[in-house]
Amino acid sequence: MLRNSMIESIGNTPLVKLRLEDRAIGNVYAKLEMLNPYGMKDRVAKQIILEAKRSGILKDDAPIIESSSGTMALGVALVGTYLGHSVHIVTDPRMDMITMVKLQSLGCIVHVVERMTSQGWQSARLERLAELLEASPGAFWPQQYENPNNPLAYAELARELIDDIGRVDILIGSVGSGGSLCGTARALRTQQAAPLRVIGLDAVGSFIFGQPDRPTRLQSGLGNSLIPANVDFSVIDEVHWLSDEEAFAATHELVRHEKIFAGNSSGSTYAVARWLGQRVPAGTNIVAIFPDRGDRYFSTFYNRDYLEQKGIQSLRIPEAPQHVQRDVIVNSWSYCHLHEGQ
Ligand SMILES: Cc1ncc(COP(=O)(O)O)c(C=O)c1O
Repeated sequence: MLRNSMIESIGNTPLVKLRLEDRAIGNVYAKLEMLNPYGMKDRVAKQIILEAKRSGILKDDAPIIESSSGTMALGVALVGTYLGHSVHIVTDPRMDMITMVKLQSLGCIVHVVERMTSQGWQSARLERLAELLEASPGAFWPQQYENPNNPLAYAELARELIDDIGRVDILIGSVGSGGSLCGTARALRTQQAAPLRVIGLDAVGSFIFGQPDRPTRLQSGLGNSLIPANVDFSVIDEVHWLSDEEAFAATHELVRHEKIFAGNSSGSTYAVARWLGQRVPAGTNIVAIFPDRGDRYFSTFYNRDYLEQKGIQSLRIPEAPQHVQRDVIVNSWSYCHLHEGQ
């Protein structure tokens, strides 16, 4: 498949039918966003940066400055440096070595804040980012949590799904900034006539869907300690929360059974897709979005010593989640409906 540039190589990711040990009644597909050059956020960086250049907010010689420790940093690094911008990434000591090496090799300047503020690492990073922005007039900050071009980047993903399977009946995706799930859902609802059920995945101890924030949670990618503007609750029908142990267990099962070596947000999404695949009428099209590959987690949840250190002795996930009301505090795989009358 010919592509004329690395930017053109973003998107058109494979949609793979999962075998689910022949137990699924519906058709369960994984959208392998992990097979973008660096990961799912390549799409977001491309949309945000090209749009900022088109509208004149980002001038040709201006730097791009973003705070991220994962897939967004890599996407901004790919697109920004490819287009000749200097790219500064603000992060903290929790960044994994694989991502750090990729960013530096791409030519980014990585700023690692040394200590957290009383509000944690995120606010320490934002303080440093504000200093950098002030020192570099004309610098561009992509702001994935509120930039509407983050969800808009997924109109293309929705079109790819419709081209491949005609219609999506159930969409399952993890929620961090909200861009991928809400953007894909909104675009599908405008691009297809068939009704769509939308299921969000979050971590136990994440604040997004009203649970008490537990900053010690171990899952990365999904979950947040604040509610990003790009989470559009009106398009999400149902939310599931998984504990760290359950998310890691599902991610290990994903590679064992489906041969997909992925990050924990894909693992959680897989757990819900696998459960639902047995509870829908034949012919139902379920699509689960898988954001990143597993490599950067080689020293965390793919490592037995790490799991032991964190007190995770065995990796278990229940066969089915608990159905709870919205105000219940959850500690293990649970789900609730977000809108009255569901
Ligand atoms: C690995 C991973 N999974 C899931 C997500 C959540 O995606 P979104 O920000 O589109 O909600 C992210 C976001 O950064 C991520 O990096």
